[in-house]
Amino acid sequence: MSFSETMESQPFINLVKHRTSCRSYEPKPVPREHLELMLEAARLAPSACNKQPWRFAVVEDEATRMRLVNESFLKGIPMKWAVNAGAIIALGMERSGIVHAVGTKISGVDYPQLDLGIAGEHLVLQAEELGLGTCWIGWIKPKLVSRIVGWPRSIKPVSLITVGWPAGERKTRPRFSAAEIAKWI
Ligand SMILES: Cc1cc2nc3c(=O)[nH]c(=O)nc-3n(C[C@H](O)[C@H](O)[C@H](O)COP(=O)(O)O)c2cc1C
Repeated sequence: MSFSETMESQPFINLVKHRTSCRSYEPKPVPREHLELMLEAARLAPSACNKQPWRFAVVEDEATRMRLVNESFLKGIPMKWAVNAGAIIALGMERSGIVHAVGTKISGVDYPQLDLGIAGEHLVLQAEELGLGTCWIGWIKPKLVSRIVGWPRSIKPVSLITVGWPAGERKTRPRFSAAEIAKWI
């Protein structure tokens, strides 16, 4: 079977291809069971030394969502579209002292950041399978996110992810070709 024939027949790659950042939502709630399933996909992610440094705040409450949109985004990128997302999930990092700190110092690899990225994308892809749209929002004021969701100082917010029912067309953004990003040895 050729590469493209194989690709056509594989549900996972088609899910990945279908996902794009969703910046337009129907103003409808997201069922709690859907959010629970997304969280489960994130919970099962791999992490360096199995430290599982991720923490989540799932914000369904409208007033709190509005506070996140109005107070916790940095200026410069218009993101008012987020008001219609039925849920906003804050991703936070619980730094667990020695292993992460020492490991990162020795290797220069920021393992907790890597772990958070993996868990967040598990969550996003599970949302996609449920027909939901998502968008990562990294252009945030972490201290304000913490204050709004009530996290202690030990948890550092790294991103928000909007979740909701997609409205209208989504744009596909270009990617580098495989030849540009990978070498075969
Ligand atoms: C860590 C991260 C942070 C991002 N932050 C923002 C953001 O603050 N605002 C926004 O509109 N999109 C944000 N995005 C979405 C990217 O712009 C988007 O993923 C990229 O342009 C590729 O487009 P696609 O997701 O539609 O394929 C972020 C994505 C990632 C992974």
